[in-house]
Amino acid sequence: MLKIVIFGTGNLAKHLYTAFLKADGVDVAQVVGRNREELQQFAEHTKISADFDAIADADVYVIAVKDGAIAEVSKYLSNKQGIVAHTSGAIALNVIQPKKRGVFYPLQTFTKGKEVDFSTIPICIEAHDKSSLETLGNLAASISQYVHQIDSKERKKLHLAAVFVNNFTNYLYGIGEELCLDEGLSFNLLKPLILETANKIQTLSPHEAQTGPARRNDIKSMEGHLGLLKKKEHITLYKLLSQAIKQAHEKEL
Ligand SMILES: NC(=O)c1ccc[n+]([C@@H]2O[C@H](COP(=O)([O-])OP(=O)(O)OC[C@H]3O[C@@H](n4cnc5c(N)ncnc54)[C@H](OP(=O)(O)O)[C@@H]3O)[C@@H](O)[C@H]2O)c1
Repeated sequence: MLKIVIFGTGNLAKHLYTAFLKADGVDVAQVVGRNREELQQFAEHTKISADFDAIADADVYVIAVKDGAIAEVSKYLSNKQGIVAHTSGAIALNVIQPKKRGVFYPLQTFTKGKEVDFSTIPICIEAHDKSSLETLGNLAASISQYVHQIDSKERKKLHLAAVFVNNFTNYLYGIGEELCLDEGLSFNLLKPLILETANKIQTLSPHEAQTGPARRNDIKSMEGHLGLLKKKEHITLYKLLSQAIKQAHEKEL
C-alpha cells in the first residue's frame, strides 16, 4: 500500500484526491492546505491539516499548490523520508528542496466542478533517483494507463506546447463566442465544428487538417473578416494567425 499526503486544496488537488481515493494500493493519509474552509471537503474520508508542521509520514508527498509556492512548501518536508513530488508542467525538478524529489505532472486541464477520467490522462514523471522513479511510476499507474518518464527540459517544452493547444485555443473559443453573441447567435452553433477540429487530428496531422481562408490565401474573404472586427486585439490576432497559416502552406498554393 502506497501512503500519500496531498498538499493543496485547489483544482488539481481535488481531482487527484478523487482519483487516488478510488485507486487500488493507494492510501491517502492526509490532505494539507492553508485554506481551512476548502480543507473541510476532504475531511469525510481523510485526515486534514492546516498546520504544515504536523504532516503525516508517507511514501509520497504530492505538492499540488500554485507553482510559485512549491519550493516554500517543500521546505516543510526536508526531514521526511518519503518522496516529495510537485505536479507542475513548468517547474524544474530541482526546485524541490528534499533530496528524494520528483515530478508527477498530469497533462490535462483541470477545472473546478468538471470531472475528468484520469485513466486516459498522460502522467509525466521524473525523479532524482531510480527507486523514487519506480515508486512514482507505480503511483501514476494506479490511476492512469499512460505513464511517461519525461525530464525537466522536455516537460518545459511539453508545457509550452500545451499552452498553444489548450490555453490559446480556448481563448480563441472566447473570441468566437463573443462574435456570435454580437449577432445574437448561440455559441452552440460552433460546438460541432470545435469537436470535429479536435477529433480530426486523431487521424490527420495538424498541417494536413488545416482549412480556411488563410490556408487557401483567399484575400477577399480575409479582408471581409477584418472589416467586421472591432477590437484591436482581435484584428492583430487575425492578421498574425492568418499570416502564419499562409506561410506554413505557401508551397501548396
Ligand atoms: N489546473 C490545471 O489544469 C493543472 C494541470 C496540471 C498541473 N497543474 C499544477 O497543479 C498545481 C496546482 O494548480 P491548481 O490549478 O490546482 O491551482 P489552484 O486551483 O489555484 O490551487 C492552488 C493551491 O495552492 C495553494 N497555495 C497557494 N499559495 C500557497 C502557499 N504559499 N502555501 C501553501 N499553499 C498555497 C492554494 O491555497 P489557497 O486556497 O489558500 O490560496 C490552493 O490550494 C500547479 O503546480 C499547477 O501547475 C495544474
